[in-house]
Amino acid sequence: MCVIEESPVIETRRLTLRAPAKADVERVAAFCVDHDVARMTTRMPSPYTRGHAEEFVARCGTQDRTRDNTFAIDLANEGLIGVVGLFTNPGGPVELGYWIGRPYWGRGYATEAARGALDWTRSIWRKRRVTAGHFADNEASGRVLVKAGFLYTGVVEHKPSIARGEPAATRMMVWLA
Ligand SMILES: CC(C)(COP(=O)(O)OP(=O)(O)OC[C@H]1O[C@@H](n2cnc3c(N)ncnc32)[C@H](O)[C@@H]1OP(=O)(O)O)[C@@H](O)C(=O)NCCC(=O)NCCS
Repeated sequence: MCVIEESPVIETRRLTLRAPAKADVERVAAFCVDHDVARMTTRMPSPYTRGHAEEFVARCGTQDRTRDNTFAIDLANEGLIGVVGLFTNPGGPVELGYWIGRPYWGRGYATEAARGALDWTRSIWRKRRVTAGHFADNEASGRVLVKAGFLYTGVVEHKPSIARGEPAATRMMVWLA
């Protein structure tokens, strides 16, 4: 087992992945109020409020880093532009999740953040297998996962989406270190 420092920081070419902080609440709330962000995730409520952003940041501060690691995706001179997280499912493997604020879509940031998080997962956290799933109507996320090195398993699960209020077909993928 490896020991993870309290607030790991990951540097990629354009981004810094770091612990979410209270100062991020405003930007998290501003990006997540966008239903097109929330509806592509399993856990994000919609409508998304400032209170949800406060709870999110507080929760990140109490994570057991042997199981879960959430990073703010920080762009120099801008601040938080999204979030990437790695979570251990009960009895299961580590799962990757992420979102990027709409003003920053289409510039390769999700792919760069996912690759940085996966490098860290392999080299520091010493995990060999990571799963991810994207809703079948979220082709952009499928592209991100393929570019980051995930393969489709062929399994389609029906995962809940709080924002949609109903489960959605989810294409499952796997990444092997
Ligand atoms: C999905 C998301 C993370 C992508 O972020 P991003 O920073 O724009 O992603 P990147 O720029 O790294 O890559 C996006 C890829 O999707 C492609 N893409 C964008 N819109 C697309 C669409 N409607 N259909 C198919 N591909 C699409 C882009 O062309 C690019 O692929 P390419 O490099 O092969 O051309 C972002 O849109 C988002 O946060 N959406 C809402 C939340 C979400 O979906 N989270 C993931 C849950 S699984």
